[in-house]
Amino acid sequence: MYCLDIDTFADSNGDGVGDIQGLIGRLDYLARLGVTCLWLHPIHPSPNDDDGYDVTDFYNVDPRFGTLGDFAELLHQAGNRGIRVIIDLVVNHTSDQHPWFQSARSSPDSPYRDWYVWSDREPADRHQGMVFPGEQHETWTYDRTAKAWYYHRFYRFQPDLDTTNPEVRDEIKKIMSFWLQLGVAGFRMDAVPFIIERTEPGDPNPDLDFEFLTELRQHVQWRRGDAILLAEANVEPDQLPAFFGDSGGSANRVHMLFDFMLNGRLMLALARQDPEPVIEALRDTPALPEGGQWATFLRNHDEIDLSRLTAEQRNQVYEHFGPEEDMRIYDRGIRRRLAPMLNNDRRRIELAYSLQFSLRGTPVLRYGEEIGMGEDLSLPGREAIRTPMQWSYEGNAGFSRAEPEKLVRPVIDKGDFGYDKVNVTLQRRDRNSLLAWFERMIRTLREAPEIGFGSTTHIDVPMPPGVLAHRADGPTGTMVFLHNLGAVDAEVDLSLLQPEAELPIDVLADRNYADIGKLDKLNVAGYGYRWIRLRRAWSS
Ligand code: BGC
Repeated sequence: MYCLDIDTFADSNGDGVGDIQGLIGRLDYLARLGVTCLWLHPIHPSPNDDDGYDVTDFYNVDPRFGTLGDFAELLHQAGNRGIRVIIDLVVNHTSDQHPWFQSARSSPDSPYRDWYVWSDREPADRHQGMVFPGEQHETWTYDRTAKAWYYHRFYRFQPDLDTTNPEVRDEIKKIMSFWLQLGVAGFRMDAVPFIIERTEPGDPNPDLDFEFLTELRQHVQWRRGDAILLAEANVEPDQLPAFFGDSGGSANRVHMLFDFMLNGRLMLALARQDPEPVIEALRDTPALPEGGQWATFLRNHDEIDLSRLTAEQRNQVYEHFGPEEDMRIYDRGIRRRLAPMLNNDRRRIELAYSLQFSLRGTPVLRYGEEIGMGEDLSLPGREAIRTPMQWSYEGNAGFSRAEPEKLVRPVIDKGDFGYDKVNVTLQRRDRNSLLAWFERMIRTLREAPEIGFGSTTHIDVPMPPGVLAHRADGPTGTMVFLHNLGAVDAEVDLSLLQPEAELPIDVLADRNYADIGKLDKLNVAGYGYRWIRLRRAWSS
């Protein structure tokens, strides 16, 4: 799965903002990379105070991106290339500019008044539960026109919808139906734990209404049987199963969840050069119901959220990957891309992505990571990692023909990550480039269904420091993976696997290893990795 924001991907009409036609023009690039599902960040009209996560019309596309006609064409063209498209569904809140909120605040008699969450008095939990500490100071704000307080889990310009209201529930289903009817393959559901909160003034820990998720799942399934719900629920691991739901052993709420727990532990493991946190993550992963799946990621469009690590662990990650105050955000995270965090060390970048892609679940890759883009810390907040895609060494990185000052965000044009050094065209011409490596790895992954469909387990035998061995067992056979998170070359003894092995071979590795077939003496270079097919099942 590949995610991008239309406004920073490709600008076809030269107005400085990426658009749908620009994206259509790049679908072949995505197909060649091996992408089979595209997740688009919010596409709707929006004042863009939170990069589109503040919607003013759920039934349209942002006019800067094009028209609904362009969007239908995108779905058709993507489908032709075997790419499904899912869109962000942001229904925890609307923009305060949305006509529903404008009407709701104008009068207690507005038909939309009860679509939002109000309190006549100042709620005692007014200063609790902020998602963006530092940028957000309260979760209840007084609205003078409404003469009441409204609730907003996120910024004050994002009033929460009241999802206990049956009319709001129906409207959300209608929104989903609309986009499914147009041909999207599902939704990345934003902020799901907050959508299902039964918010009451003064209660900072409201109940969660999981039945609403069951309702949405049923609705989506009736409308399009193969559509997916991929939820953002950044909660403790023991709370995750309820989001999948369980009806006779099968998931009956969302199909997929982002694995935030793994993300934090991966960052810790990379910082410490020690696989232990990943081993813990594998051990602590709750069992999946039938039809459930994880979505793994190293970087997304937000900060790296380290809030589930201990203070000491968080400090270790900060020390390695966010040593300067300016690289950190919200008292819990890092606003950087992966390549700069790993000092642009190609070995470590490959290692990190090889590890992510070989673990259970569906890997999600963010635009620009496949060429090793960097961040621009001079931009505010999370914008640092939302700069335009670097296509070539033409002006504006080939992203747009507009005057540079008209660009939606400046392109990175300085230093090691400037577009003269990091761009698609350059890497296209170099068969040893990071881009070429990603293409090869993704192809290999697609030939290894054990990883996505099988079970992933840590191989618990004595290992040299820094080395992780894990295996994936699925209907098509068994694969074994070695990842050396440390800098020192290592030799691994996996002879216990000998009885299961049938001519083990590397299907992907950081280099050619001569020890093929000898499981008792497997070498793995410092920051090296090996994907070994141990056994292929010819029938299952
Ligand atoms: C998205 C953020 C967004 C927030 C509010 C999130 O969880 O990932 O980018 O700011 O929801 O909609």
